[in-house]
Amino acid sequence: MTTLLSLERDHPAPLYRQIYGSFRARVLAGELRAGDAVPSTRDLARELGVSRIPVLEAYGQLLAEGYFEARRGAGTFVSAALATHDEEKRQMRGERRVSANAAALPPYERPSWAERLGAFQLGQPELRAFPVSTWSRLVGRYSRNVPVRALQYGDAFGLVALREAIAAYLRTSRGVRCDAGQVFIVSGSQQALDLSARVLLDAGDPAWVEEPGYWLVHHVLEAQGCRIVAVPVDNEGLNVAAGTKRAAKARVAFVAPSHQSPLGVTMSASRRLELLDWARRAGAWIVEDDWDSEYRYDAKPIASLQGLDRNARVVYTGTFSKVMFPSLRLGYAVVPPDLVERFAAMRRAMDLCPPYLAQAPMADFLAAGHFARHLRRMRPIYARRRRLLVDAIAREIGAEVVGDAAGMHVAMFLDRCRSDVDLAARALERGVQVSPLSASYLGKPRQGLVLGFGNTPESAIAPAVRKLAEALEPA
Ligand SMILES: Cc1ncc(COP(=O)(O)O)c(C=O)c1O
Repeated sequence: MTTLLSLERDHPAPLYRQIYGSFRARVLAGELRAGDAVPSTRDLARELGVSRIPVLEAYGQLLAEGYFEARRGAGTFVSAALATHDEEKRQMRGERRVSANAAALPPYERPSWAERLGAFQLGQPELRAFPVSTWSRLVGRYSRNVPVRALQYGDAFGLVALREAIAAYLRTSRGVRCDAGQVFIVSGSQQALDLSARVLLDAGDPAWVEEPGYWLVHHVLEAQGCRIVAVPVDNEGLNVAAGTKRAAKARVAFVAPSHQSPLGVTMSASRRLELLDWARRAGAWIVEDDWDSEYRYDAKPIASLQGLDRNARVVYTGTFSKVMFPSLRLGYAVVPPDLVERFAAMRRAMDLCPPYLAQAPMADFLAAGHFARHLRRMRPIYARRRRLLVDAIAREIGAEVVGDAAGMHVAMFLDRCRSDVDLAARALERGVQVSPLSASYLGKPRQGLVLGFGNTPESAIAPAVRKLAEALEPA
């Protein structure tokens, strides 16, 4: 640790006084906080190139005045008693305005998954089954032999090897029409959605979102100051006619056509064509959030909307959060060829480039077939969990889940429930972490629940649904 103290040898004040004064000023300015360790007198004397005597004198005075405290065997620290003064100092004064867009965002709450993982938590894959040893071997290989060039800033698009592996995967598995030149590596699909909004929308522009829909799309649009137009979702997906009635001239439609969030509906072929036709006529863009469609249990995966598009109006986004693991923070956007350069310029403004040490092993993981193998292994595991969950809900709650057999969550309507928020709170008291459906609506909500089954072991499913049924009818 360096202490950022500087001494002036020809200063009229003696050395001990300068050392004392520097520490005191830094404590009072809040730069050194209660409980921070300070260097030993020996280390500080060596660092400053002075004898130990002035340092001992300065520390003696700081201890005597209560700025420092000595803890036997541990060293010297900024006094814990200063904590309350620190707090007072941290109260900032004067006008402290932030942008209207930042002020309008809903308050940040620590996400429940940061506290603990429990049955039915949304968005969590079965991390215990992830092939950690294969992954760490690849990470280890690249960390040990990292080429010096790779320590430098990379390209805003991402690593070529990974972009090629993703393009090949998306062409064959998702029917996306693309080459590697259109692929951007981003930090999860959240960044892809944000990047798309920044490139395609101005403040005040109307944008369609699905109702109910993915709450973090709402936040992206709020952060941009856009006009959010909630378009209802029925059992064929986004209702294009309703959207046209509400805002025919919207600039962008954000949709999850393969597996809608949260209802789990797959958009019908006729709706897809209708949506593409609207975009062509309105000169609008579509942002396709293809976030969990690797997992379908009843039929073959549904091809992407982007693959149907003949007018290059779709930005396709996807993520490795669900098949790999969420903290990897790797996702991708596939961009129409004529937008590639503008996306690159915006991506660089947001965040220079993605991290090499995540991308290089990911490229190998895909190319060597580990990704496909992991998917094949997980599909029947999730399929069984989903079947068990759907059966238990029918048995214990008497409700039917909506949506297709896909992804890692199910949703159900509970129209007779007075408050799904209260219900979720009662379930949490019983150790079950369900999400209220009403939270996914911008307008008048329907009551219901959304349950993730990705990280809920088979044996935990029926008991957790039983607890949920108890929460449904409080005594
Ligand atoms: C609808 C939807 N889109 C995208 C994502 C993925 O986000 P990310 O790739 O940023 O982890 C999620 C995560 O749960 C989601 O629910």
